[in-house]
Amino acid sequence: MCGIVGYIGKRDVAPLLLEGLQRLEYRGYDSAGVVVNSPKSGALKMVKAKGRVRDLEARVPKRFAGTTGIAHTRWATHGAPSDVNSHPHLDPENKVAVVHNGIVDNAADLRAKLEAEGVVFASETDTEVITHLIARSLADSLEEKVREALKVIEGTYGIAVMHADFADRIVVARNGSPVILGIGEKEMLVASDVAALIAHTRQVVTLNDGEMATLKADDFRTYTTSGTQTNATPETVEWEAASFDMGGHDTYMHKEMSEQAEAVDRVLRGRIDDRFSTVHLGGLNLDAREARGVRRIKILGCGTSYHAGLIGAGLIEELARIPADAEPASEFRYRNPVVDPDTLYIAVSQSGETYDVLAAVQELKRKGARVLGVVNVVGSAIAREADGGTYVHAGPEVCVVSTKCFTNTVVAFALLALHLGRIRDLSVADGKRIIEGLRKLPAQIEEILAMEPEIEKLAQEYAGAQSMMFIGRVRGYPVALEASLKLKEISYIHAEAYPASELKHGPLALIEPALPTVAIVPNDDLLEKNRAALEEIKARSGRILAVAHQNQEKADHTIVVPKNEDELDPILMGIPLQLFAYHTALAMGRDIDKPRNLAKSVTVE
Ligand code: M6R
Repeated sequence: MCGIVGYIGKRDVAPLLLEGLQRLEYRGYDSAGVVVNSPKSGALKMVKAKGRVRDLEARVPKRFAGTTGIAHTRWATHGAPSDVNSHPHLDPENKVAVVHNGIVDNAADLRAKLEAEGVVFASETDTEVITHLIARSLADSLEEKVREALKVIEGTYGIAVMHADFADRIVVARNGSPVILGIGEKEMLVASDVAALIAHTRQVVTLNDGEMATLKADDFRTYTTSGTQTNATPETVEWEAASFDMGGHDTYMHKEMSEQAEAVDRVLRGRIDDRFSTVHLGGLNLDAREARGVRRIKILGCGTSYHAGLIGAGLIEELARIPADAEPASEFRYRNPVVDPDTLYIAVSQSGETYDVLAAVQELKRKGARVLGVVNVVGSAIAREADGGTYVHAGPEVCVVSTKCFTNTVVAFALLALHLGRIRDLSVADGKRIIEGLRKLPAQIEEILAMEPEIEKLAQEYAGAQSMMFIGRVRGYPVALEASLKLKEISYIHAEAYPASELKHGPLALIEPALPTVAIVPNDDLLEKNRAALEEIKARSGRILAVAHQNQEKADHTIVVPKNEDELDPILMGIPLQLFAYHTALAMGRDIDKPRNLAKSVTVE
């Protein structure tokens, strides 16, 4: 949600931290702040500002020298966005500075206790209790002071701490919120996301929950919160620094939509086995005998990833004939679910850090379930917590709204479904057919992306609508759900998604000329049923935009997409509607990459 970046070395730290914050702004963006130490005295100097990183930048004085610093971009949880609630938080003597991602669950109790001891709080945040606890510790080392504070804290955290009396180090700790160390030459960095590190180093150490680290300019060490050394070794990040840039596009969303053909090519690469008409997914940790023993599959994810999971469940049922369904992880974890030993659970997440998904995985593992991950970010918490899984290889996704990751996740599910199907009852001929379909996807995605000017015109036409209805049937329904989410996230137009089959059970009452319907109409065995739904809408003077494989007579407009295999059509049918949402939002002057109230990675409840 929020972003942390820190540096210790020889460089002038403020510009480096501000640049890091810019790269993290997509995680949360209602306020930001930075602390650096004075090179001579070690005293801490701080600037904070409500608003975007550029507002903070405007406040940083010209003379703000320092070679060690920590900075933060915030997405408010405790306390409204304001200068004073922004991080870092300093103690009254300006000795200790803390930046924090996560939530201190017992903050109210700790605050009351500290206030009873005479501590005066400057902000309304939960984080400030951490600062006071560290400042009041009588321990001799900064590490011990932080450890003492963490002992009384309940909740989640990724923190970075500076102390004026221990100017040669930054101490960091992780519990449920990512902390990644960047290992440089005579300089060390820390961040909550590799996006802020990659311009400086590709050597990283990802802390585990319950782990801490001390960073000095030429050295780092990792240890548990109880003090045991953990000797982490750096790993090389595969993503290029350039993949975090806008690459000549006006927005990250546009860049990421346009990357979908090559991203799909990447998730397929090296995995297809023509000899056996199947695919190999190296990291599943599920042998053929175990796969045959799976009686049911339950997919868990949130938002767009949940929608990808719905399409995934359909693919698994169709190709592998294993009963499968998807559920929002945020609901699943609160309903005391029955965990069945013959069910395979699949957690799906772009970031691999979504707290609701992670908590569901942890609960499942505690109950002895086998959990696979379908994740984009390598080494992320969900990827590490799962028993095995597959990466979706979409590359970094910076825009808050997910596009290329959605597409790649669905393709990853198609691969998994094919793999399971070929271990079970899917014939060689059907395996071949699906592989041929998968191979066609990148070129067909390019064809759809080339339709952008036409889709832009349509979007301008529909941009005045107050509300929109999205319908689809069976394979098309999750496509409708995702398209409606995309539209509301970035245009703020109210949108509803319904199974086309449910129209006459209620939502038909809404249909009138002012409520346009976007209908997913694949050329499959349900074509005539879908056409009947279009008739029903037209009979009530509803406007219709169809996404179909051929022109639809009853529709006012049809976006004609290339046909693939019936099972794989949902992968393609959502892409024109990403472009549609994009151009609708653009026509309405929205901030596409940073929609209001949202953050890229929801690492809190
Ligand atoms: O990183 P995740 O895939 O776990 O994120 C889950 C959702 O928060 C995310 O998909 C959200 O719905 C996006 N804003 C979709 O565009």
